[in-house]
Amino acid sequence: MSQNGIIEKEVSPMNGKVAIVTGGGSGIGRSAALLFTKKGAKVVIADIAATGGEETAAMVRTAGGEALFVRTDVSRTEDVKAMVDRTIAAFGRLDYAFNNAGVFTGLIPLPEYTEEMWDKNININLKGVWLCMKHEIPHMQENGGGAIVNTSSIAGLVAFPGHYGYAASKFGVNGITKVAALEYAPSRVRVNAVCPAVIDTPMAAGLLEESYKSLHPLGRFGKPEDVAATAVWLCSDEASFITGQILGVDGGYTLP
Ligand SMILES: NC(=O)c1ccc[n+]([C@@H]2O[C@H](COP(=O)([O-])OP(=O)(O)OC[C@H]3O[C@@H](n4cnc5c(N)ncnc54)[C@H](O)[C@@H]3O)[C@@H](O)[C@H]2O)c1
Repeated sequence: MSQNGIIEKEVSPMNGKVAIVTGGGSGIGRSAALLFTKKGAKVVIADIAATGGEETAAMVRTAGGEALFVRTDVSRTEDVKAMVDRTIAAFGRLDYAFNNAGVFTGLIPLPEYTEEMWDKNININLKGVWLCMKHEIPHMQENGGGAIVNTSSIAGLVAFPGHYGYAASKFGVNGITKVAALEYAPSRVRVNAVCPAVIDTPMAAGLLEESYKSLHPLGRFGKPEDVAATAVWLCSDEASFITGQILGVDGGYTLP
C-alpha cells in the first residue's frame, strides 16, 4: 500500500528480470517457465532434451514472453557455463534460477542397486545443482542480488526403501542450499529449496496409484503448478526475507 492509502495494482512484478529454469522441457520446470513468463520475466529454458525444451520455449513465445532454449546437460561443467554465458549474451543479466533438472532411477533394493544408478543420481541431481549455483551466483552478485530455488524432494527429508542415489542427491541438495544461502546472504543472493511429494509429471508416472495418493493427507497428488508457484514465489520480492529454507510442497506427506 502506498503512503496515501491507495493499493497499487501489481502488473508484471518480474518485468525486466531474467530467469533460468533447468529441466524446463517437461513437468515442473515447464510449468515454472510459463509462470515466470506470466510474471513478466524473460526465461532461459535449459534441458538435455531438445524437443521438450524447444516446445516450452515455443509455449512461452505463444504466451507473449521471451524465451531462449539452451541444450544443457547440468552434470557437465562446460554445458552449465555455456548455459549461463548464453543467458548473459542474450538478455544481459541473470536474476533468478530454478535449478530443477533431475532424474529418478526407481526404488531398487540395495543388492540390485548399481554403481551406474548411484553415479547418475549424484551427477545430475546433486553435482548439477552445485555447478549451476557456481556459475549463476557471480552474475547475481553483479546485479546486487538474486534468488535461487533448487528442486529437492521429500526423499531429501524422509527415507524410502531403495532410494539410495536419489536420497543421497536430494539430502545433498538441501545441504548445499543452506551452505550457499549462508555464504551469499551478504551479497543479497537468496537460496532456498523445494521438496515436492508425488507430483503428476512424466517422472512420477509409475507412482500415480491409490496406495501412494493415500499417503498425501490433502488427498491428492501434486500438480506441476503447485511446485512452480512455490518456486516462483520464493524468487519474488514477496519472499525477500527468506533464505536457506527447505520447503515441503507435499500435501502433508511428511507430517505423520
Ligand atoms: N514428479 C515428482 O513426483 C517429483 C517429486 C519430488 C521431486 N521431483 C523433482 O522435480 C524435478 C523435476 O522433475 P519432474 O517431475 O518435472 O520430471 P520430468 O521428468 O517431467 O522433468 C525433468 C526434466 O529434467 C530433464 N533432465 C534430465 N536430466 C537432465 C540433465 N542431465 N540435464 C538437463 N536436464 C535434464 C529432463 O529432460 C526433463 O525435461 C526433479 O529434480 C525431480 O527429482 C519430482
